[in-house]
Order: sequence, then C-alpha cells, then structure tokens
Amino acid sequence: LCIVLDFGGQYNQLIARRVRECGVYCEIKRFDTPISELKALEPTAIIFTGGPNSVYDPSSPHISEEIFSLGVPILGICYGCQLMAYTLGGKVESCEKSEYGKIEISQSGGSLIFNDVPEKNVVWMSHTDFVSSLPDGFRVTAKSDDCPCAAFEAPERKLYAVQFHPEVTHSEYGKQILHNFLYNVCGCTGDWVMDDFIENTVAKLREQIGDKKVILGLSGGVDSSVAAGLLSRAVGKQLTCVFVDQGLMRKDEGDFVEETFTKLFDMNFVRVNCKDRFLSALRGVTDPEQKRKIIGTEFYNVFWDKVREQGSDGFFAQGTIYPDRIESGKGNQAGQGSTAVIKTHHNMVEKPDDINFAGTIEPLGDLFKDEVRQVGEKLGIPHDLVWRQPFPGPGLGVRIIGEITEEKIKILQEADAVFRDEIRKSGIESQLKQFFAVLPDVRTVGVMGDHRTYDHLIAIRAVTTDDFMTADWARIPYDVLAKVSNRLCNEVEHVNRVVYDITSKPPGTVEWE
Ligand code: XMP
Repeated sequence: LCIVLDFGGQYNQLIARRVRECGVYCEIKRFDTPISELKALEPTAIIFTGGPNSVYDPSSPHISEEIFSLGVPILGICYGCQLMAYTLGGKVESCEKSEYGKIEISQSGGSLIFNDVPEKNVVWMSHTDFVSSLPDGFRVTAKSDDCPCAAFEAPERKLYAVQFHPEVTHSEYGKQILHNFLYNVCGCTGDWVMDDFIENTVAKLREQIGDKKVILGLSGGVDSSVAAGLLSRAVGKQLTCVFVDQGLMRKDEGDFVEETFTKLFDMNFVRVNCKDRFLSALRGVTDPEQKRKIIGTEFYNVFWDKVREQGSDGFFAQGTIYPDRIESGKGNQAGQGSTAVIKTHHNMVEKPDDINFAGTIEPLGDLFKDEVRQVGEKLGIPHDLVWRQPFPGPGLGVRIIGEITEEKIKILQEADAVFRDEIRKSGIESQLKQFFAVLPDVRTVGVMGDHRTYDHLIAIRAVTTDDFMTADWARIPYDVLAKVSNRLCNEVEHVNRVVYDITSKPPGTVEWE
C-alpha cells in the first residue's frame, strides 16, 4: 500500500491514479490522519501532495516530525517537498520569480529516482515558495534556473523531494520518476492488477452476502453496470437489478441496456417503463430546476416502490466509485485548501425510512474511473457501454428546452442518433469527451422544395475537457458538420435548421439546462 497524504493540492487524485497505473495500490488519506493510524496500515510508500498554502502560514496543514522516523520511504511533491524541508530544519522562502509551467531542470545523477531520466528534462512547476536551504543530511539532486533545490534527498533515511509535479503529463519523465520511487526506493512489486481485483472482490462479495439477496439500481451508466457485472459474477440470481426507464434515454438505449444485461449476466433484471408517469408529472413545466427536481423525485419514487415489491431483506448495492468518496484535504485548520468537492452523484441515493437493508455494498468504492472501465472490459461488458460518454441523470429532460412532450423526445432522440452516427463514422469520436444534440424551444422558417416550412431548430454540442469543470467546444471539421447538418434536415422529421454551439465552459455549461 502506498499512502498519498493529502495537503489540499489540485492534483491529489492524479497522483493516486499515477501510482495505481504503476501497478501499486494506493489510497488518499488526509494530512491530519493520526500517525499511529497511518503506521497501522503498514504502508510501503508515502507521498506528500502539493497544496495551495505556504508552510510559514500557521494555519496551513503541518505534520509531526514523527512521520519521518517511521522508516517508510517518503516522496514530497511541491508543498510536500517544502514541508519536508521545513519540518526537518531547512528553510523555505518566497521565490523572487515564481515558476509556473514547463521548466527545464538538470539532474546531477546518482539519485535512484532519476534512473533512466536524462540530465536535462522538462517538468511541470507551479510554486511561489521554494526551499532555499536544506536540512542536515540532505543533498540537492536537481535544479532549474530559478530553483536551486528542484529535487533533493536523504537516501539513507529514504526521504525524497521534488519541487515539480511528476504526476502531471507535462513532466516528460514524471511517470518514470514515480515508478523509480515506488520500485527502486520502496521495493514495490506492482501487484495491483485488475484480474486480481475481480477475483478478490468476487470472493469477498460471496462471503459478505452469503445466501441473502442484493438489490442494485441500474442506470445504464458505466459505474452501476460494472457493479452489476461484479455482483452477478459473485452471487448470480441472488442479485436483482432495477432499471428505471423514464423514457428520457437516448434512442434505443433502454432496449440496449436490457438486452446487454439479460444476455450477458445471470441476475434478475427488472425494467420499469414509466415514460407516461414522467411525462404527466412534467406536463406544462418549463423551469430547468423544477424539471430536474421532478425527474429526480419521480425516479426515486418509482425505484423505491420497486424495491418494496422485491422485498428488502437483503443488501443494497450501488456503483459508488473512489472519487465520490474521497474527502480531499477538507477541513484543514484554515478551512481552506479543500480541493475536489464531493459531487452529489446521482447514484448515491437516500433511502426512505421504511426500508431496511442488511447493509450497503459498494464493490467499486476503491476504484478510479479508468480502473472501473478496465474491470468492465474484463467482465465482458460491451465496449460501447464501458466507454459510454457521461449522460446526465435527468437524461434528455435537460436537453429539451421548455416543456417536454413525447413528440419533442422523439425528434431529439432521432437527431441525437444521427449526430452520434456521423461522429462515429468520421473517426473523431475518441477526441471528444461528450457530444449530443439539443432541442431548443425554437422554430424557424425554411424552404423545402417549393414549400415554406416552419419547424424545429436542432443545436449540436461537442466538447473536449479533462474534468468537465472547464471545457472547450470541439473543432469538428467543417465537412463533418456539413454531413450532420444535411442528414438532420433530410432524415429527421420536423427539423429544418441546425446550429453548432461554439461556447466554451465557462461561460457556458456543457448542458443547456
Ligand atoms: P455542466 O452542464 O454542469 O455539465 O457543465 C458537466 C457534466 O455533468 C453532466 N451533468 C449531469 N450529470 N446529473 C448528472 O448526473 C445532472 O443533473 C447533470 N447535469 C450535467 C453533464 O452531462 C456533463 O458531463
């Protein structure tokens, strides 16, 4: 186990993901986790993350010197590097010139963490403080023009520090450096592989569930699908999946989900078709927030009614994944430096009081999204489902502006299917993180043959992004846009005009509502 000790930096989850990519299991812990608790976990490696604070600020997160005498190798990154120097008696000062972006460093050779790294290499820096003098027993192993201690270490004590961010892809040899630390310094063996994960999890689930029943809400998204796959492998027909089809999925998606799961997995699959119920609850409603609320409330009403029907004497399972659970750097003394806000995921549901389960099971609770996808592929879940782009909980409901009607759902489903088909054919699909059609509540005049038309406008949206907090509109080639536009007007009834949304986020959001 590698522990990533979180001091509130923005790349904390990225560090953990990179460590796991190196085949080493790791968990993120808050910086103020008691040392005794950390020790009890018997870590083979500890990594200090970056953080937004200055070590001299009394309210910034600090750590007891005791951690450095556990005998566990430590790598300090950015703030973590300054904290190591400061805590052990070195000096940290404000830079005359802060370093931000790609910076060339030169390493002096002889450090285990720079094995197979050229003397001069480019790293990602982002700091306004720097280590100006090292604690006793440390030596500098790399510097840049403006940073005399870009990396330093005390190899006898297994303490290593880098001012730059090896976890960011802009650091050319970042992954190599992390790999070197984990393998050459800590002696990790790289035994974190998904095949083992599946086998161990299935065994654990069998033991935990025994002969009880399990119920899982399936949304058709990646996480709940993979959770369903694992549970099915563990307990087969003891698992019931409830799939609420509110009629606001993409074209044929409900059938695809049903077919996939009933064919592929041994389980009870319960599909609830309740489009009419949703449509009547949404009749006349145009306010986006109200629509969201109604769709959410109806969804859970239907879901829990079905659960009551099935009987709730067993376990409740959900597809929560690790990033949903991380309490990242939250609640340090200053109340600042909190990073990743825990997203209220639509699959983390509140349970009504009258329903009691033997417990909650979250089989993916320790995995990152890319690991969930690997598990999905290994379980044989179709590629299209495993690599499915994010789809909002309220579905097409937030892509139909104004009142939602059956006719509008049909137009949007058809238009969206045409757009997705063209993107797939164009070969640019893997460059886009999300792409879809929107039906604004707009009609415009057009001409078809000799006739005047007055019909719907379709907007198409495609974005590139790392994390959906910010996004850029995708530069789809004109000829692809031309084909999409042609096909939408020719093939989709009641569409006579197409626009492409060229708004980034911010100021726009990805969805229109
Ligand atoms: P926005 O529109 O906020 O979208 O820029 C960012 C990402 O979140 C998805 N999204 C949602 N997902 N329930 C969800 O589960 C929602 O209500 C919701 N609204 C937006 C959106 O599709 C995009 O991937």
